[in-house]
Amino acid sequence: MEFAWQMGSVAAFSGDAVVAFAFSDKTLDGALKDLDGACGGALARVCGTKAFKGEFEDLFVTPLRGGEQLAILVGLGPRAEVGPFHLRRAAQQGVCKAQGLGSVQVAIAVADQAPSGVEAAAEAALIGGAAGAYQFRRYKSGAAETGVERLTLVTSAAVDAAVQRRAAAIAEGVAIARDLVDTPPNDKTPDLLIKTVEEIAKRSGLACEVISADRLREMGAGGILAVGRGSAHPPAMVVLRHDGGEGPWHGFLGKGITFDSGGLDLKTQDGMFTMKSDMAGTAAVVGAMHAVRRIGVKGRYIGVLALAENMTGAGAYRPSDVLRMLSGDTVEVSNTDAEGRLVLADGLALLRREGVQDVIDLATLTGAIVVALGTHRSGLFTNNEDHASAVLAAGDLAGERYWRMPIDPEHKEALKSSIADTKSTGGRAGGSSTAAAFLARFASDTPWAHLDIAGAAYRDQPEAGPGATGVGVETLVRFATKG
Ligand code: BES
Ligand code: MN
Ligand code: ZN
Repeated sequence: MEFAWQMGSVAAFSGDAVVAFAFSDKTLDGALKDLDGACGGALARVCGTKAFKGEFEDLFVTPLRGGEQLAILVGLGPRAEVGPFHLRRAAQQGVCKAQGLGSVQVAIAVADQAPSGVEAAAEAALIGGAAGAYQFRRYKSGAAETGVERLTLVTSAAVDAAVQRRAAAIAEGVAIARDLVDTPPNDKTPDLLIKTVEEIAKRSGLACEVISADRLREMGAGGILAVGRGSAHPPAMVVLRHDGGEGPWHGFLGKGITFDSGGLDLKTQDGMFTMKSDMAGTAAVVGAMHAVRRIGVKGRYIGVLALAENMTGAGAYRPSDVLRMLSGDTVEVSNTDAEGRLVLADGLALLRREGVQDVIDLATLTGAIVVALGTHRSGLFTNNEDHASAVLAAGDLAGERYWRMPIDPEHKEALKSSIADTKSTGGRAGGSSTAAAFLARFASDTPWAHLDIAGAAYRDQPEAGPGATGVGVETLVRFATKG
């Protein structure tokens, strides 16, 4: 998809559909007034009626220019409550609707919907709009389906070229992550996923280094090696680097289980079906590193992907195996379905060797976080309040929602092993916190934030089709751009 920027009135746009926003407190902004002129006052008449109250997620479609064009009005709710999340979601809904009605050339009219100004609103509209047009069509044979080909941001004031570039880079990063997660697991075994990531890195100009299973063996990365042993496709780590000048390196780490069968502690059919998405953390890191590179962010960022397939082959690791991890710690495996924390533990040890100043890991780590928070929010765990605040602030800018979760001494206590330094799981109670407590051992004194995205990474999205969401990409980018 192409992005275009135009300043001025939407009335001049000649494409298939115009998406515009309205508040529930009825004030028609400039963009809406222009559009209203083009449809003979129909918008002003409908706003505030039962047909369209302007509440968040309300949607109203009406023809323009004798049916040649569509106006799609999307509600934002009360003006005072509108934030980055609402703008992205509304743009996503509007563009998705336009696409569903066959539109190829779509404009989004942006005025001063964001409290922080036109630029922020336009950026949110582009990112949300692009997400709304996202389709995963690679495996559909037959006649080519159509979709939105060009998204034009029509703004009431000039938008800085750097902001335009940043928005496009983020939208691309999100689409990259969603493509990776939606790809079926037979086409993204660790070896195949590495090829895809190498191509992405080449395109964006990221340095990309692969740490093979042989090398992991020499290094003593017993966690990721154990998880990969039941698969015909060996595990690996990938290190992506963006060196944007001086200063310390910041680490991003993604869980990259390309398929999670549970291992010998096998999952049920229902539990297993969505487990191609168990590399959504890795996908987010790839998408974010792509965007960080494209933006040319100042500072140094290193992204580690911990890739393995959790299967039940003859070599599979067993419950009660004791592993020696890259950090030197020993782990008693209490459940082979708790594989994510093992690959992440070795990833954290690798990043500590790199001497990073801080780490953010993203992982579809526990079913318990879905029970606790639902699918619209992810859990944030940390060993450092300042770092956590920076990540939460980035999440707010990105319109991605997190909730602070605890790691208590009791959660650490639950991991005590009678024969090793720690067990890998702490039982059902507080499952997300005991998983985080396990990771905290390996983060050690490196400032660290852990985002458990098991709920938000993959779901049925009535507004934009089922599948991957790309969650986490923008949070990482906003962490890096600090704005
Ligand atoms: N990948 C799963 C977690 C998951 C569950 C992600 C549902 C997305 C949706 C993870 O590897 C897992 O199996 N976790 C176990 C941990 C347990 C064995 C301690 C879980 O949550 O049941
Ligand atoms: Mn698992
Ligand atoms: Zn898993």
